[in-house]
Amino acid sequence: MQDLKSRSDAIRWYHTIDLGGGVVTSGVDDTPYRLRRVKLPTSLRGLSVLDIGAWDGFFSFECERRGAARVVAADYYSWHGGGWGTKAGFTLAREALGSRVEDVDIDVMDLSLDRVGQFDVVLFLGVFYHLRHPFTALERIAPLVRRQLIVETVLDMVGISRPAMAFYPSRELNNDPTNWWAPNVPAMRGMLETVGFDRVETVTATHGPVYRAARAAYHQVRGKNPFGPAFRQDRAVFHAFKNNPSSLIQNPAS
Ligand SMILES: C[S@@+](CC[C@H](N)C(=O)[O-])C[C@H]1O[C@@H](n2cnc3c(N)ncnc32)[C@H](O)[C@@H]1O
Repeated sequence: MQDLKSRSDAIRWYHTIDLGGGVVTSGVDDTPYRLRRVKLPTSLRGLSVLDIGAWDGFFSFECERRGAARVVAADYYSWHGGGWGTKAGFTLAREALGSRVEDVDIDVMDLSLDRVGQFDVVLFLGVFYHLRHPFTALERIAPLVRRQLIVETVLDMVGISRPAMAFYPSRELNNDPTNWWAPNVPAMRGMLETVGFDRVETVTATHGPVYRAARAAYHQVRGKNPFGPAFRQDRAVFHAFKNNPSSLIQNPAS
């Protein structure tokens, strides 16, 4: 187990993953907290899952733990360095967990039925706002979904009822040049309906103005984002269903 700990300590982790035997990865992301917000179906027994932008694979392994018959983790950027990270975390976690999660090295813009096939459930968590062409990405992803797509994203222009997306031409969002677009809730719902989903639920909605004001003040003090934009930003989770019998998936749950 000491060997697992030292191998884990040598990796720069994004996800916080319990590898067993008392070894928990030192991820910068509070992934167990995000798992509660994402509200994965309690049971995925017998289903197939595609996890787009899987990075260290926390959500892929969790789907396997919930009984999925087949899980495919897809990513590209964070598995090839270039400032994001590497695939070392995914590889070690898969080995430590004795997992059968498959991996596909692919840019989201190259996804197609021919390349990866169709899945009962598709996860698209924390990726939307990193894309230059996010609506096109949703068009690519929609045919791959047999039943349910789960999207988690940064939001902007929270509280505005007209569907809109904010564009970040430089480092405006979190000083991160890989952040490009963030929609508000009506825009995300509208896009998901437009690309062919029959029912869209906002399962984890935005925080209220008091919480957002407190968080925006914190951002300002830390020099992260100016108060005004930060107040209008948030994160939310959407579950989008095709008219297949989605009731077969027990949903939502933690
Ligand atoms: C913020 S991380 C989210 C990781 C994980 N899905 C989660 O929610 O914890 C963004 C991920 O999206 C991936 N990503 C960004 N642009 C991508 C693209 N064009 N194609 C595939 N993956 C991409 C990155 O490599 C990274 O793993």
